Amino acid sequence: MTLPTEQAIADAVAVLRRGGLIALPTETVYGLGADAENELAVRRIFAAKGRPATHPLIVHLAGRAAMPSWVKQVPLSAEALAHAFWPGPLTLVLHRSSRASDAITGGQDTVALRVPDHPVALAVLEAFGGGIAAPSANRFGHLSPTTAEHVRTELGGEVDLILDGGPCAVGVESTIVDLTCEQPRILRPGGISGDDVARVVGRPVSLADAEVDVRAPGMLASHYAPRAGLVLVPVGQLAAEAEARARTGARVAMLSPLSGSAPSTVTLVTVPSEPDALARVLYATLRRLDEEGFDLVVASLPVDQGLGQAVRDRLTRAAAPRPSAH
Ligand code: TXA
Ligand code: MG
Repeated sequence: MTLPTEQAIADAVAVLRRGGLIALPTETVYGLGADAENELAVRRIFAAKGRPATHPLIVHLAGRAAMPSWVKQVPLSAEALAHAFWPGPLTLVLHRSSRASDAITGGQDTVALRVPDHPVALAVLEAFGGGIAAPSANRFGHLSPTTAEHVRTELGGEVDLILDGGPCAVGVESTIVDLTCEQPRILRPGGISGDDVARVVGRPVSLADAEVDVRAPGMLASHYAPRAGLVLVPVGQLAAEAEARARTGARVAMLSPLSGSAPSTVTLVTVPSEPDALARVLYATLRRLDEEGFDLVVASLPVDQGLGQAVRDRLTRAAAPRPSAH
């Protein structure tokens, strides 16, 4: 694939400067970006996504050097994590400076920052010079887009310019670490494992409890959901469960890490067993099954290694009971 030209990057910067919305590729998922310091532009993001205004946005930066101006102070843990993992799939939540407005933070006194590891996102950020507020470029509660085509289909009418940077290399969203308390807390597992975070800060990290703290929409149980229902079972029970569900008349797809055959009433979709490879194709696969009209997806969880924690988190949420909107 050919990456966007210099002209396309310049056009994207022009859109940002006049308060418009761009879709931009990152290594995790595609983002819906606006000038983080233009409140009207930031409001357009919320409107386009149908996202409640209290759910804060991540501010994307061109590099570590830009971090201090957005925060009250840079703790040593943030310095160490930024040094180790930026550019990369890690978002740091810190006490904000006045540069981060209520429109971005949902009125909280913290701000989420990240430097994405994608040449197109970095080119735009460098040329723009400021921060780009960007949630994933999907409607609130839906699957994140991992190709430009996904964005075009879901939000095409709402975006002024879509930059196509090819399929995302990681495939699931960034790890969010809250550094505003004594002990670092993972608010959302993602591209960087909890063990890697703990190793770099030299302290154990806790995993936030979604029941107690729902400031991050990624922590809502039914987030990241396909339209189709999702049922999780151990690998050995995939075929039997899928077949039983199909007997009720539902159109059932079975996501299996094993090649082989499925019951004749079920559609077999072979997916990688290795978690990082599964992360890369997960959202695109669920999106395709939605487009093809499946009622139910039967799947199993990958091992908890590498991106396994993030994939297990997203699959578990997709399988959780949903509000009627889904
Ligand atoms: O990989 C990613 O992080 C992608 C790409 C585009 O960078 N972005 C993404 O954004 O996933 P979004 O809006 O879909 O998820 C951002 C998460 C939300 O769960 C939000 O609540 C949380 O970050 N967040 C943002 N600011 C926060 C804050 N101050 N405190 C706690 N959570 C925050
Ligand atoms: Mg999102």
